[in-house]
Amino acid sequence: MNMYSKISGTGSYLPPKRVTNQDLTLQLAAQGIETSDEWILSRSGIAARHFAEPGVCSSDLAVQAAERAIAMSGLDKSQIDLIILATSTPDHLGGFPSTACIVQRKLGIKNGAAFDVQAVCSGFVYAVSIADAMIKAGANKHVLIIGAEVFSRILDFKDRGTCVLFGDGAGAIVLSASEEPGILAAKLHADGNYSHILSVPGNLACGAVEGSAFISMDGPAVFKLAVSLLEKVAQEALEAAGMVSSDLDWLVPHQANIRIMQSTAKKLGMPPDKVVVTVDQHGNTSAASIPLALDCAVRDGRIKSGQTVLMEGVGGGFTWGAVVARM
Ligand code: UT7
Repeated sequence: MNMYSKISGTGSYLPPKRVTNQDLTLQLAAQGIETSDEWILSRSGIAARHFAEPGVCSSDLAVQAAERAIAMSGLDKSQIDLIILATSTPDHLGGFPSTACIVQRKLGIKNGAAFDVQAVCSGFVYAVSIADAMIKAGANKHVLIIGAEVFSRILDFKDRGTCVLFGDGAGAIVLSASEEPGILAAKLHADGNYSHILSVPGNLACGAVEGSAFISMDGPAVFKLAVSLLEKVAQEALEAAGMVSSDLDWLVPHQANIRIMQSTAKKLGMPPDKVVVTVDQHGNTSAASIPLALDCAVRDGRIKSGQTVLMEGVGGGFTWGAVVARM
């Protein structure tokens, strides 16, 4: 049995094409849809996002992020014995074969298992919780955890209520067996009664999509639920770690809306300068948003070894969860 699991490397990748609110406003205006930089920025905190070029898949973004995380960990790829990939935009319909298996092939990894996790924007915290349990059970030593999305593929550019909010990208960590504490607590939840407020409602039938293959969201309902659930699960994870919010160095929230992030920080009594914010530049990258933000703050020197970080997220399902980690 391994005593602990600890983050040994982080990495991230954004596709090069950056689309500002002004770019998107012009693009939508050409289709007769009205929006503005002012509306997008004031309601969500988003100024720009990245979109993958046609033909670029979640696995392509995932591989780049994974390479960087593995390089930081100092491990050889052959030491990775499990890949867990969180995505709602898998390379193939029905997620079959899993994007994790495709990433395994592209990375040239031959060891261990690989599977996808589907918990929408909570996918990364779900994946960390699973990997932590696998390592603590002694089943794995070095788990590559990736959140990767090409959400631009499921955006309806006729729906201004959603198409301005999301972006593409990938973030990754390596979680390794350790004698020192790393993941201190992880708490997950789901409530399928709220599945209708955030979904891609279409089905596959007779080899074709029946219904809409685009994201559908009741923004205000999601907003209200997110604000109430995130503080609760954050407190629950802190309690399980035997900590209080003043023990935290950083809050690394799912990057959906700056107002949700600020509200959670305020409820936890955390000052805004302890919150890692990337939503302004990345938009909402769903399962990729937390590891992308984590990697940005590790690489720019804000998050340092030994510091304590709370990661939390909420998403379709409804799913939500929080992880407390010592870096
Ligand atoms: O990652 C999963 C979790 N997702 C989230 O956490 C998202 C949660 N929800 C939100 O972030 C916010 O609800 C939104 C940013 C989506 C929307 O903000 P809001 O303040 O809740 O606005 P609203 O949906 O209530 O819309 C207000 C107005 C409406 O017009 P009327 O009915 O007041 O005339 C909308 O039609 O804003 C209009 N509107 C827009 N106007 C300009 C909606 N989208 C746009 C737009 N540009 N892009």
